[in-house]
Amino acid sequence: MAGGKGPRFWPLSTEDQPKQLLSLVGDTSLLEQAVARITPLMPLEDIYVVTGESLVSATKHHLPDLPSENIIVEPVGRNTLPCIGLAALYLRKWRGDDAVMVVLPADSVIQHQERFRKLLQYAANIAANDDVLITFGVTATRPETGYGYIHIGATAHTADDFQAFQVRQFVEKPDRETVEKYLESREYLWNSGMFVWRVDVILNAIKTYQASIYQKLMEIDAAIGTASEAEAISHAYSQMEGISIDYGVMEKAKEVLVIPADIGWNDVGGWGAMHELCERDTSGNTVRGRHIGIDTQDCIIFNQTAQNPDVIEGKLIATIGVSDLVIVESECAVLVCPIDRVQEVKDLVEKLENS
Ligand code: GDD
Ligand code: MG
Repeated sequence: MAGGKGPRFWPLSTEDQPKQLLSLVGDTSLLEQAVARITPLMPLEDIYVVTGESLVSATKHHLPDLPSENIIVEPVGRNTLPCIGLAALYLRKWRGDDAVMVVLPADSVIQHQERFRKLLQYAANIAANDDVLITFGVTATRPETGYGYIHIGATAHTADDFQAFQVRQFVEKPDRETVEKYLESREYLWNSGMFVWRVDVILNAIKTYQASIYQKLMEIDAAIGTASEAEAISHAYSQMEGISIDYGVMEKAKEVLVIPADIGWNDVGGWGAMHELCERDTSGNTVRGRHIGIDTQDCIIFNQTAQNPDVIEGKLIATIGVSDLVIVESECAVLVCPIDRVQEVKDLVEKLENS
């Protein structure tokens, strides 16, 4: 799934260059890393990228070896449920009803990649045989309201050092008070936003819980492979409600399993995550690109040169006597913000859009 916006990385993330196309951690984009992470498990021919029309050429540029027919194009973003539904239709056509589908976001970081691939394999084995929706849960460490929470139940499967549990309840983005209760109880995991299921199982779940979207998907299904395919997709998308898979299916579904995933997962949620993921210098600064400073501590300094050193010559960022700031230079803007207020960046983007 690579069609989201990621407004929290403004001014680096823009409509043409959303979060998944940025090199925020390491030298390649999050999308490239997401694909590279799974190629030891499956050939590129088995990997499909769903994205928006306006991002197709950038996506090809980031993934030059991906067959171009493996890019599934949405005319507009309708959030993750339609994105997953559309991909499931194509997979059913090309791979059959009982194909196992692994759904991954394009914009997270995973440190323990070998373990991650083993867990995917384990989940795929379960999904091949059982009519279940499988999620991967991550230990919740702070009262984060931007994630889904999974109430873990009884053991459902075990194999070697892998375990899958029943899910008692899936709650998408609960409020702060609820989140604090969940953390205290220690019975909840964060939803990592990665899923495994068979194509028939997810399409059935969409049919059961989101009948009107399912109906639109069936209109597309009837046109796949015909001359009116693109038109059918545009028409259906113009009438479809935007909703995430988490609200639309996971909260409602009954047969849900969770596999705890100790894989060093991080969804790189905003500038704050850079501090956790990138190396800091001796003054505690995370610097990407060109910077010079005196008495500068614990800052995140991001110069657009770091995005594409061959092409972009960003401005030198110079600082004196500052600490705990985020300073980001891009072609269109410069952001200066205290680190503890980075969650307001998306409000700023909204303000900018409305101004
Ligand atoms: N193709 C396509 N179309 N992709 C999309 C769309 C869309 O309309 N909307 C989002 N995506 C992609 C994003 O690029 C990202 O890779 C992934 O789908 C997840 O979307 P987000 O918008 O980042 O979701 P979220 O962070 O609010 O919540 C999800 O992830 C959390 C963990 O990071 C949920 O699954 C939460 O439950 C979960 O905790
Ligand atoms: Mg996200």
